[in-house]
Amino acid sequence: MIDTLRIFLTLADAVIITDSNHRIMEVNETYQTITGYKRETILGSKASIVKSKLTSKATYRSMYEALNRGSSWSGIFINKKASGCLWHSSISITPYEIGGNVYYVGIFRELEHLAEGVYVAEERRNNIQGVLLKVLAISCEIRDPAIEEHLLRVQQYTEQLVTVHNKRMGLNLKEDYKQSIIHSSIMHDIGKSGVPEGILYKPGPLTGYERLIVEMHPLIGVDILSKINIELTDSFFKDELSVARQIILSHHERWDGTGYPHRLKGTDIPLEARIVSVVDVYDALTSRRPYKEIWSKDKALAYLKENKGTAFDPDIIDSFVRIEEMQTDRLPS
Ligand SMILES: [Fe+2]
Ligand SMILES: [Fe+2]
Repeated sequence: MIDTLRIFLTLADAVIITDSNHRIMEVNETYQTITGYKRETILGSKASIVKSKLTSKATYRSMYEALNRGSSWSGIFINKKASGCLWHSSISITPYEIGGNVYYVGIFRELEHLAEGVYVAEERRNNIQGVLLKVLAISCEIRDPAIEEHLLRVQQYTEQLVTVHNKRMGLNLKEDYKQSIIHSSIMHDIGKSGVPEGILYKPGPLTGYERLIVEMHPLIGVDILSKINIELTDSFFKDELSVARQIILSHHERWDGTGYPHRLKGTDIPLEARIVSVVDVYDALTSRRPYKEIWSKDKALAYLKENKGTAFDPDIIDSFVRIEEMQTDRLPS
């Protein structure tokens, strides 16, 4: 055992020292207490003795890539104790070259006990949330084959608008909230699944009665969402679904208080709904619908500007116009 590495064994965290083949050369007291493995029984074993199947392959891949380059690596592992219980830890591994040999020093810090039982990396969690909401949104509107593109475009515009508006207005929105708006924007019209096709895809103007039915779609959507809510009690989705609820319920409210279903006015309309209302209208105008032709981008932008302060939040329109200007700036002259 190389004496210069022994100093690490005095750390309060769990420490493991291995040779270049990842065979255990030494562990400290904390490592033995946490894992339940006695030093004498594991010396010479592979460090993977504590491996569970729950750490992703990508995590191991990134670890090996870094270590093979001679760089240190840190990440999250879900390991297994001698008792079979899972153990979530944040780990940093550093390679040391001493006398021509490479040694690895791994320092584990146990993560707080997680109510969910299994640690899920933020990125993976975001992905699961996004995919699930997308599947829900598309399945609710499966009757319209063009809808998927509309929903995805609304989501893309929402992402741009949330980012630019947050920056331009100095709102300091939390990352989780921004992500929830982006994910949930795709759900805005799930209530349309409760509107008869004959009305939804009617070419030409709607009668007063038909319009009333269409205008029920935010309330129908919230009803669908409450049913989903009963099933999805997992805390992963709690924030996501509350933002989705505001978007579904209020994306047809108007800044001047003449929208539906609740005639909310100004900032009483949740920010997420004010944002989605702008991009939803813009995309609807610039796409072909059974009752209208495609509008040019310029014509649609002019419409948004005309309705700034009546239908739409003026600051959000300014942010949206800024995005369009930024895109035009990038075009070759
Ligand atoms: Fe809608
Ligand atoms: Fe829409």
